[in-house]
Formats: sequence, C-alpha cells, structure tokens
Amino acid sequence: MRRIVTVTLNPAIDKTIRLPHFAPGRVNRVTETRSDPGGKGINVARVLKQWGENPLALGWVGGHRGQSLLERLDTRGIDHQFAKVKGETRTNLKMVEEDTGRVTDLNEPGFRVFDEDVEHLLEIYEAALREAEVIVLAGSLPPGAPSDFYGTLINRARKQNVKVFLDADGSPLKEGIARIPYAVKPNLAELERCLGRRLPQDADRVAAGKELLDRGIHLVALSQGAEGAWFFTEKEAIRAIPPDVSVSNPVGAGDTMVAALAVGACRGWSLNETIRFSIAAGSVTASKEGTQFSTDDEARSLADHVNLSSRTLEQDHESKERLS
Ligand SMILES: Nc1ncnc2c1ncn2[C@@H]1O[C@H](COP(=O)(O)OP(=O)(O)OP(=O)(O)O)[C@@H](O)[C@H]1O
Ligand SMILES: [Mg+2]
Repeated sequence: MRRIVTVTLNPAIDKTIRLPHFAPGRVNRVTETRSDPGGKGINVARVLKQWGENPLALGWVGGHRGQSLLERLDTRGIDHQFAKVKGETRTNLKMVEEDTGRVTDLNEPGFRVFDEDVEHLLEIYEAALREAEVIVLAGSLPPGAPSDFYGTLINRARKQNVKVFLDADGSPLKEGIARIPYAVKPNLAELERCLGRRLPQDADRVAAGKELLDRGIHLVALSQGAEGAWFFTEKEAIRAIPPDVSVSNPVGAGDTMVAALAVGACRGWSLNETIRFSIAAGSVTASKEGTQFSTDDEARSLADHVNLSSRTLEQDHESKERLS
C-alpha cells in the first residue's frame, strides 16, 4: 500500500508553558509544562496517524532532542526515517498567559546542515518516493539548506509521478512554486509575501489563485483563518466558510487542513468532500488547546455545516450556487 510521506526539514520540540500572566524582566512561575514533537510536516503526520493513515515522516534531526523527538514518534506509532545531523534539534517555546489567552512563540533557528546532510536526506527521500502516494513538504528550512531545496524535492517527486503538497513561506514557498507542486496551501499573508502584493479583496485573491493555476499547479488552497478559505482548481473557485467554533488555539489548523487535502487525494474523495472535511478539521483543531488536533469523527460531524459557494473560473462571474 502506498502512503503519505511528510518531510520536516527543521523539526522542533514544541514546549508549551502556561502561567497566569507574564511579567517581563521579573521571575515568573510556570504552572504547567508540556512538550510535543513539532514542525509542520510532523504535525501533518500526527494528524494523519490519528485519522488511521500510516504516514512516513522524514527530515533532519540532531542531538539528544532529536533522539527524544524520534522516541515520541515511536510512542505514537509513527514510522520515521530521519537523517541525523550534528547539532541539536531546536526547541520552540510557546508561552500561554492564562489571564488573556495570549500566546507568545520563541522559535530557535535550529541546527545547520551541510552538503553531506543534504546528500543523506536525498538518499532517504528517493527510497521513500518508491512507497509514496503523496508527499507533503511543510515548514521552514534550517540554516545551510539550499534555498531551492523544496524545488529539488518537487522535481524528483514529479519524475516518479508522485503528487506534492507544499505548505511553506518566504523563498522556500516561492522557489517551490516555481517547480510546480501538485498543490499549495498558503495562508493569506504567505501568498501576499510570495506574490509581493496585497490581496485585500476577493477579486484579488481569485486573480492570485488563477495565476498559480496558470503556472500548472492543480489545487490552490488559500486559507484565511476564521474566515475559512478559497480553493482554486482548473474548473472553479470555491469559497468555504467554516461553522462558528469557539477558538482556543488556532496553531496547527493549517497543518490539519494540509493533512485533510492529502488524505482526500489518497482516498479519492471528491473536491467538495475534501474541502468540507479540511475546513471542518481545521476549525476543530482551532477550537482545541495546545497542539491537539481534530479527530476524524469530529471533522466528519462538522463537515455538513461548512458553507460552500462556487464560481467558474472561465466565465469569472459568481454563480452563487450553493453546493451540497
Ligand atoms: N479561528 C478559527 N475559526 C474557525 N476556523 C478556523 C480558525 N482558524 C483556522 N480555522 C480553519 O482552519 C483553516 C486553516 O487555518 P489558517 O488559515 O489559520 O492556517 P495557517 O495560517 O496555515 O495555520 P498554521 O500554519 O498555524 O497551522 C482555515 O481555513 C479554517 O477553516
Ligand atoms: Mg500554515
């Protein structure tokens, strides 16, 4: 059976601390600490495992923290093949203040990788491509990685007819898009940075979606947090609005959406079915504390409450058709 392979080049131990209120420059007492394996591709693998898929997680790890990260994947039953590098896997600290709910992130840059690390990862990747149905490339690159490394990974996957889903920011997104992945899932700020212009109106977003499709990308998912998302394919532009949820911590909602898009592609779901599930799953994740993700059942029960409207891209006028 072919499987979903996630690539996390700059993983992290996500350490979440809670405290009543943060007073800068003072001694602060932490009331609760937890740590989870993190990094966007690893998050996608965690979601997929929870949904009954059998993902394979790849990437780079280093040092004791890297070892601990792999042990945590083992505990969750997630298969992995990481290339070991010198240096330590980073810790990303999330500080949650209980009085306001404010979350502050302090992200370390991570280890540096060298030519031999790049070669080692490419060997692991080539082997994984043979068992991959879909590749998910998600998150940032560590210092030392070639800036077009996602481009290289996309090229190699395309040669083997494996679909690539790309979720990145900055030049990794820009250079990845240039090599035509199957699908991309930027959020609005990421797409604006990538295209170098603001996209304030729906018309701007539809034009941006079309621009990426014209380059040869099959599916563009433009996520907009609580406002839902736009989905663009050759045939149509679909606007999806999530049901109301009480938001706890939206971090990881995008990773959940990427997991859903990848699952939809593997299980042969229709586009509408995939969209409903992905929006519902993202919203459930946003309603959960810390780095907890939507379950399959939770997403399914919310999927019917996602509102979809579509317009055909050729005619470019809104049909305002409600999709069932
Ligand atoms: N506050 C929210 N309320 C309801 N749904 C949400 C909320 N935040 C996110 N979602 C759902 O999750 C999807 C993806 O979220 P978002 O656009 O925030 O992704 P993101 O910025 O890539 O997140 P991240 O990279 O932190 O995982 C949205 O399209 C929406 O369906
Ligand atoms: Mg994201």
